[in-house]
Amino acid sequence: MKPILYVARPLPGGALAPLEALFEVRTGDGPLRAGAVPDAARGATTLVVTYLDRVDAALLGAFPALRHLASYGVGVNHIDLAECRRRNILVTNTPGILTDATADHAMALLLAAARRIAEGDRVIRAGGWTSSAPGWMLGTEVTRKTLGIVGFGRIGQAVARRAAGFEMKVLYTGPREVPFPGARRLPLEALLAESDFVSLHVPLTPDTEHLLSAERIARMKPGAILVNTARGPVVDDAALAGALGSGRLAAAGLDVFPREPAVPEAYLALPNVVLTPHLGSGTRETRAAMARMVLEEVARVARGEPARHPVA
Ligand code: DGY
Repeated sequence: MKPILYVARPLPGGALAPLEALFEVRTGDGPLRAGAVPDAARGATTLVVTYLDRVDAALLGAFPALRHLASYGVGVNHIDLAECRRRNILVTNTPGILTDATADHAMALLLAAARRIAEGDRVIRAGGWTSSAPGWMLGTEVTRKTLGIVGFGRIGQAVARRAAGFEMKVLYTGPREVPFPGARRLPLEALLAESDFVSLHVPLTPDTEHLLSAERIARMKPGAILVNTARGPVVDDAALAGALGSGRLAAAGLDVFPREPAVPEAYLALPNVVLTPHLGSGTRETRAAMARMVLEEVARVARGEPARHPVA
């Protein structure tokens, strides 16, 4: 009898056939949740999950034979890592390959928020473009402005490289100096006070939950624009919606939310928020590369080789 591999969702661009030599391969098409484990998943020794699946202690309890949890994506905040360690389950992810797609998306949101792209599109579709005036629908200039990057890892640095094309001055926060030409490391409060644009690139951990608290949002420069392609809970949504509603912040571009796919009501009513449904890594090329990487890792571990992307 072969061990059971359960792949929780279809992964475009990922070939499951080569894994059939190693596993009994079973697939699902929906969320994996404690209390709603599909029959096909029972008995799995290897699970492929996505950030949409909440892998908590209760879910892990339903998989007593589990040895390898392979997560499609880089963020691991949806996984109870301590419980995995306790149960001796190897956790792997797919780092590196979604850096460029996510940085592109952050820049797309930054530009869309600054230049009112989504709002302009809505105005035209609603028949609202009946005349123009020099002062109508003005946005915020991007070129040569200051961009504060909160979290200067792979994705943060990729955003900085893109910002260089707009001659932006780059500030960043992070635990250590990064030798990045022209970029200056600052404490978070100072960065918020100086930046015209702030883009978030920290993982979600207990330390970064509500990192952008009401107090810190209040320290942001008046008229600043916030971009979040990291994780929803990094921001205090009520405080951000308040600052956007009052006009103290000019706009925001948000790709991530605390309880996806739900989006906080307050944002839906604000014309100066550009919303996308967690599309940071959502290009055909990147999603296929993620699928290949996660499935190669599954095969590697099943052959008894060391994992290439274990999560510490
Ligand atoms: C990740 O990999 O963490 C992304 O958010 C998924 O697109």
